[in-house]
Amino acid sequence: MVPACHPVILVGSVHRNVGLCREHFRMTLRVKGFPDAAPGQFVHLVPTLEAPPHYHALDAPEDEVSWRLDADAGSRPWTGRDAVQQPMLRRAFSIAGMRDIHDAANLHAVPSSGHEREIDVIYRVVGAGTALMSRLGEGEKVSVLGPLGHPFPRPIGKSHAWLVAGGVGLPPMLWLAQALNECGRQGVAFCGARSVDLVPLTLTSPPPSRDARAATFSSAEFNAAGTPVVLATDDGSAGFAGHVGAALLAYHAAHPVAADQLVIYTCGPEVMMRFVAQFALERGIECHVCMERSMACGMGTCQSCVLPVRDASDPAGWRYSLCCTEGPVYEAGQLLWDVPAAR
Ligand SMILES: Cc1cc2nc3c(=O)[nH]c(=O)nc-3n(C[C@H](O)[C@H](O)[C@H](O)COP(=O)(O)OP(=O)(O)OC[C@H]3O[C@@H](n4cnc5c(N)ncnc54)[C@H](O)[C@@H]3O)c2cc1C
Ligand code: FES
Repeated sequence: MVPACHPVILVGSVHRNVGLCREHFRMTLRVKGFPDAAPGQFVHLVPTLEAPPHYHALDAPEDEVSWRLDADAGSRPWTGRDAVQQPMLRRAFSIAGMRDIHDAANLHAVPSSGHEREIDVIYRVVGAGTALMSRLGEGEKVSVLGPLGHPFPRPIGKSHAWLVAGGVGLPPMLWLAQALNECGRQGVAFCGARSVDLVPLTLTSPPPSRDARAATFSSAEFNAAGTPVVLATDDGSAGFAGHVGAALLAYHAAHPVAADQLVIYTCGPEVMMRFVAQFALERGIECHVCMERSMACGMGTCQSCVLPVRDASDPAGWRYSLCCTEGPVYEAGQLLWDVPAAR
C-alpha cells in the first residue's frame, strides 16, 4: 500500500458502466494523470456540465447551452436544462480498483503520473446523483476529485486479515483483498446483504456455503484476489441465512486465530460496523473501520462530515473529527459512535 498523495481534479471518461445486480452498477473511468492511491481512499465525482462528445452547439440564448445530436450518434438530446438539473455537489465513492491501462494485469496501485488509469467504482442507486450516474454512457465525462482520505493501514506482523463488508461497503474490500493477497496475508471476506439479488459479486460454482464456518472460493472477484468468502444473506437466499456479524462469530469460533495474528477491516452499514468493532475490541483484535458521512466538499472545508472520536488531549475526552480528511478509515477504539450527552 502506498502513502496518500495530494488530491487533484481531473476529467475522466466513462469507459464502462454496467449493472451488477438489482441496485448496483460498476463504473470504470479512464483518467489521465490520476495519482497513486490505495484501498480505503475515495473519489468525489460529478458528471461534467460539458455535453457528450457527439453533440454540437446550436444557436442558443446567451444564458443557455444548447446542443444538437450527431445524426448517427443515437442518444438522447442534450439541452441547457440538462445541465441545470444535474446535481451540483460531488458524490463520494470508494475506489474499488485501479490500474494502469497499459498494464491491465496490474490491479494494485501503480506507479508514475501522466499515464491513463482505470478507476472502478461500484455504486448503489439511492437518489438523484447515483441515478444520473447509472445513465452515463461510454465516452461521457465525469469530473474526478481524488484520491481523498486515508487508506486502510497495512497489517504489520499479522498473518491473517478478515474483511467484513455489508451492502455498499463491499467496493473498497475488493481492492483491499487484492492488496493484502499481494503482500501474503491469509484473507477471508465476510460479505453481507439483505438478499442475493443485492450482492454485487459474480457468484461461482460451488455456491457459497450455507455453513458460516466454511469460507469458499465462490466469488469471481475475490477468487482473483485469492480470498475465500463467507456470504450471509438476511433472507437466506444464498450462503448463510442471517446477519454477517453472526457469520463472523460462527467462523471465529471454528477458526480461532490468535488476536496478535489477526487484523479485521470493515465497511458497510454503521450498525454492522459497530458490531464488528465491538467484537474486535472485546478480543483485543486490531480493527480498522471505514466510516461514511454525507460529504459536500471532501476536503475539510464545509464541516458537513463530522463524527465524534475519543481524544484524551481534549478536556471533554472527545472531539469531532472530519471524516473526509481524518478518515474515512478509523481505528475501532477511536470511534464513539454516539455524540456524548452534554454534562
Ligand atoms: C467515503 C465514502 C465512500 C462511499 N463509497 C460508496 C461506494 O463505494 N458505493 C456507493 O454506492 N456509495 C458510496 N458512498 C455513499 C454515496 O456517496 C452516496 O450513496 C451518494 O452520495 C448518494 O447520492 P445520491 O444523489 O444518489 O443520493 P441522495 O439523493 O443525495 O440521497 C439518497 C439517500 O441516500 C442517503 N445518503 C446520501 N449520501 C449518503 C452518504 N454519504 N452516506 C450515507 N447515506 C447517504 C441520503 O440521506 C438519502 O437517504 C460513499 C460515501 C462516502 C462518504
Ligand atoms: S466533506 Fe467538507 S469538511 Fe468533510
